[in-house]
Amino acid sequence: MTDFAVDVQGLSKWFGLLKAVDNVSFHVKQGTSFGLLGLNGAGKTTTFKMLVSLIRPDSGTALVAGYDVVKEPMKVRSHIGYVAENPAFYTRMTTLETLRYVCRLLDVPVNEEHRRIDSALELVGLLDKKSAYVGGYSRGMRHRLGLAQALLSEPQVLFLDEPTLGLDPLGAKNMRELILRLRQEEKVTVLMSSHILPEVESICDEVGIFDRGQLVAVDTIKNLRSTASDSMNLELVMTGPNEQVVQALWLIPGVNHVVSDGSRIDINTEKKQELRPRILQEVLNNGAQILSFGLKESSLEDILLRLVQTDASDVPHTSSRLTPVSIIPRLIEKKR
Ligand SMILES: Nc1ncnc2c1ncn2[C@@H]1O[C@H](COP(=O)(O)OP(=O)(O)OP(=O)(O)O)[C@@H](O)[C@H]1O
Ligand SMILES: [Mg+2]
Repeated sequence: MTDFAVDVQGLSKWFGLLKAVDNVSFHVKQGTSFGLLGLNGAGKTTTFKMLVSLIRPDSGTALVAGYDVVKEPMKVRSHIGYVAENPAFYTRMTTLETLRYVCRLLDVPVNEEHRRIDSALELVGLLDKKSAYVGGYSRGMRHRLGLAQALLSEPQVLFLDEPTLGLDPLGAKNMRELILRLRQEEKVTVLMSSHILPEVESICDEVGIFDRGQLVAVDTIKNLRSTASDSMNLELVMTGPNEQVVQALWLIPGVNHVVSDGSRIDINTEKKQELRPRILQEVLNNGAQILSFGLKESSLEDILLRLVQTDASDVPHTSSRLTPVSIIPRLIEKKR
């Protein structure tokens, strides 16, 4: 038995001439959380749909909870929960009717139904809405119902496609806390996609970055930060002769760029630790007082935009697509 909750090898999917998912491989350890990142149309939802056995891959294999998504789709479905990008329900059914219907589809034993429905509704905060018609639900409530139906199988693996899309700040915060709780308390493995990068950062142990169907990097955010860039960004806040300091900093070998915004100076340098004391010394030599000085970490947004081709993200990726920029093979190489 593998300790991977999800094990994907060379998965591909074509839609006509478009290769929506292109030879993607990755694995997710049990009990961890994995974020799928990428621009619109990068192939995240298509990957999810293959992993939850909604669409069939054209090539490659994927094991989810130990079961093959093509050969054992029913086994896969009984071990996972899936919340689609836009969860849709029958509007003339009540919350309870909807969840009972899902239980029947999932073959949940009848004597288990009541307990599972109540516990899912309690977790998502909809216990008092059992007899409300789903047609009257707000978007946030629909998302929560989406999560409740995904929990009915008591899943080992949860697939969440943009779980906070369209939620207000409080709804999004609640959803994030819920996901973290499921992971920590129930040991559920979570795969999620999101364009809200701080959210991914707060939930996911590892991320996979998709670019036009290809997976161009898989790593922890910390590692991506250190490998995706060959330069450092430093931030200095000071008082004193600003222009003089800026000029002196430009002259230090290894300093690539200096931008001053009043008392704050942003410095981009080669990745050499010895540059930091050298910069500090230069500032002091010029009679300035240092209020703060430190490394400015790249945001996940910086990393993502550096790794994907942003020139024409919505251009279909056919088989004749260009080779990704040079940094990408390097990162994949490192991972292997
Ligand atoms: N059923 C389909 N038929 C034809 N093309 C499709 C189909 N589903 C997806 N595609 C195409 O496959 C590509 C990948 O789409 P996918 O929905 O997987 O992207 P995504 O990464 O989830 O994007 P987003 O961030 O916008 O949700 C897109 O070019 C999309 O137009
Ligand atoms: Mg999508």
